[in-house]
Amino acid sequence: MQDPVHALYQSRAYPAQSHPATDPAVTAVAAKLAGLNVPAPSGARILEIGCAGGHNLLPLAARWRNGRCTGIDFSSAAIAEARETARLAGLTNVEFVETDLRTFDRGAGISYDFIIAHGVYSWVPDDVRQALLDFCSARLSREGVALVSYNTLPGWSLRSTLVELTRLITTGPAAESTGQDPEPILGFLATAAGNHTPYARHLTAVLHDIFGKSGNLLPFDDFSPINEPCTFLDFTRRAGRSGLRYLGASQLAENFPSALAPEAAAILKPLANDPLALQQTIDVLTNRTFRSSLLCRADAPVRDRVTTATVLDFSIRSPHDYESLASGARLLNRAAAELARFDEPLAVALYFLLSKTKHESVPLREVAGELAAMMGDSFDPNQNLPSLARLVIDSARQSLVLLRDEPARFDAAAPAFPQVSPLRSLAALKGEPMVDIYHTPCHLDDAQRRMVLAMDGSRSLEELAALAKTLDPKLDFQVWIGHLAARGLFVQHQ
Ligand SMILES: C[S@@+](CC[C@H](N)C(=O)[O-])C[C@H]1O[C@@H](n2cnc3c(N)ncnc32)[C@H](O)[C@@H]1O
Repeated sequence: MQDPVHALYQSRAYPAQSHPATDPAVTAVAAKLAGLNVPAPSGARILEIGCAGGHNLLPLAARWRNGRCTGIDFSSAAIAEARETARLAGLTNVEFVETDLRTFDRGAGISYDFIIAHGVYSWVPDDVRQALLDFCSARLSREGVALVSYNTLPGWSLRSTLVELTRLITTGPAAESTGQDPEPILGFLATAAGNHTPYARHLTAVLHDIFGKSGNLLPFDDFSPINEPCTFLDFTRRAGRSGLRYLGASQLAENFPSALAPEAAAILKPLANDPLALQQTIDVLTNRTFRSSLLCRADAPVRDRVTTATVLDFSIRSPHDYESLASGARLLNRAAAELARFDEPLAVALYFLLSKTKHESVPLREVAGELAAMMGDSFDPNQNLPSLARLVIDSARQSLVLLRDEPARFDAAAPAFPQVSPLRSLAALKGEPMVDIYHTPCHLDDAQRRMVLAMDGSRSLEELAALAKTLDPKLDFQVWIGHLAARGLFVQHQ
């Protein structure tokens, strides 16, 4: 079955990427807060559609040895690579199937608790888009959730126009002087547009964003043979016709992006009882280009209330810096800009406690226990626990805290004899990013890659520091190794 997309993926390797928004420990939170009681990811059946070389799925299989992961893709080279990596990493709870989604059938009885289709929907022919939605509808478990990402209108329309223009230039008479490589053309368009009007600044920013993506990615993304954006409403209506229901964005904060005016929540209140119209409005207001949406079966039991217990079962961290003030406290981002200020005692105490375990994601029930101990007799569980749950949800909506369906506990200091897992070591060997404990890529330059390959648990920090001096004398080894440890990249020895 040949289509232009198949020809592309058979002939070129897609760059290895992991996507934090697809992590079931994160999507489970968004789904539960939307009222769907999804199964715990640790024992779940997870399917990734269009899994490429397995870079996004394999770390999930490594994290949840009691789960069952399946990756499908129609690129034979990608599936061969994914299988080989799983074998070398000793992962036996993951299988990779070379198949076209349009004909994939694992038998009538099999359903999936989490389906991930990232970077597929907008980049495939229309019949594959339909097959994807129909598959999710037929094969999600009763309380399962599917993540589908896609490019959105109106935000993407200028990009499509720029891609068409670049193709026109590179295939027409002008190509004699411009050449056929799109990147320099995007560059001279940006220079010609300049910076002197609001439109020029917008156009230049879009052009820079396009060529800021690595040259390896552009043929698969903006310059993919198919790149069909759609409006949010078109997507949700089509999903509805396939028997699916829209739940929300895969990351909570994306439901109300920070690009909106601070007073937008109050102004948009009249749309509160029409969530789909509200989301479409937000896309128009923010010129959103991309969405990562959660869908469930139309007949799934979706509750309209979220209980305090549901929220207390999450794990939490705040990645920001905490600063105590004469009256209350504030949170700062990495550039020391103020993100929020609190004077309410419960909020001050919450952020103070979270600042002590900044890198780990800790059970909220544990934090609630510490809050109760701090507040002594004035802590009333009937009143304070629901207030805490509301505070946590509000904070998560603003990205002041990050929630997960399960804890991530690790020592955030570098161990005496650092060791990375076989999967991370294989990534370093192949020159790919390592995937950290939060499913975020950790990019390595060549010297760092060689140092990571030496981190097999046999070399002390001092020996590694000496190696670092020879491989990259300019690297601040202590800072770098601390950074790796704070991202949970080392094997934890009990
Ligand atoms: C843009 S890549 C995305 C890879 C990965 N999911 C990510 O987001 O990084 C799209 C993947 O979908 C696969 N694909 C496209 N059409 C397909 C089809 N009809 N059946 C199976 N796989 C398909 C391609 O081979 C490719 O690996």
